[in-house]
Amino acid sequence: MDIETTVRQRRSIRIFKPEPVPKEVIRQILEEARWSPSWGNTQPWELYVVTGEVLERFKRMNRQKCLDGEPHTSEITMPEFTMPEAWLEILKKRYADVGKSVLASLSIAREDADARNQYYGEMFNLFGAPCMILVCLGKSLKIEYAMLDVGLMMQTICLLAHAKGLGTCILAASVRYPKLLREILPIPEDHLVVIGTAMGYPDWGSPVNNFERKRAGLEEFVTWVS
Ligand SMILES: Cc1cc2nc3c(=O)[nH]c(=O)nc-3n(C[C@H](O)[C@H](O)[C@H](O)COP(=O)(O)O)c2cc1C
Repeated sequence: MDIETTVRQRRSIRIFKPEPVPKEVIRQILEEARWSPSWGNTQPWELYVVTGEVLERFKRMNRQKCLDGEPHTSEITMPEFTMPEAWLEILKKRYADVGKSVLASLSIAREDADARNQYYGEMFNLFGAPCMILVCLGKSLKIEYAMLDVGLMMQTICLLAHAKGLGTCILAASVRYPKLLREILPIPEDHLVVIGTAMGYPDWGSPVNNFERKRAGLEEFVTWVS
């Protein structure tokens, strides 16, 4: 698959088939992804590949906490769309739009709180993915800057996975209850839980994996100077 096709076709997958991903395939993806760039070639990322019964336990507990409405305790600052800054309006709209597209594709009405909650539960269940790649960072790092490196690594993993017929979804929902992750993974105290990505074989039959996605045109974010 050429790079343009890979970039254009990759999309967040929100229903996975239960089939496990062979360890060798995950290993190949990570072998290639380790060539991602990072500041000063520091390669600050620490990855955990979580599968099998450990992941199933995490998904069950994570889903339950979501359904119980337990307050989030993320270890990195996440955006709150209640912030008053005017510049966030367009971002808020895009955020709301993707939420609407997801729910509409599943025929979930916005006012159907039960169905929405079940859907959020599924999100915290990592959409049924059989594999999660979790990224942590040492607390001593300049976190804002190291986040650039994490983003590059995650995108590279997602693109490589797509090119191998796998699907991914980078998931804030995977790190809202980091204590759960600390119970099941050997994450050192001096490390931060940053972000997880669900990985598995996409259920292409589901409309949630097929709705039309939107992007801003270049005129909205590019300034050409010569
Ligand atoms: C840092 C980050 C966190 C995300 N968290 C979630 C999440 O918790 N739930 C979800 O459904 N999608 C999540 N996404 C996926 C985005 O919604 C998705 O990338 C965006 O809508 C663009 O769509 P695409 O990936 O299909 O191109 C996340 C993406 C990123 C980069």
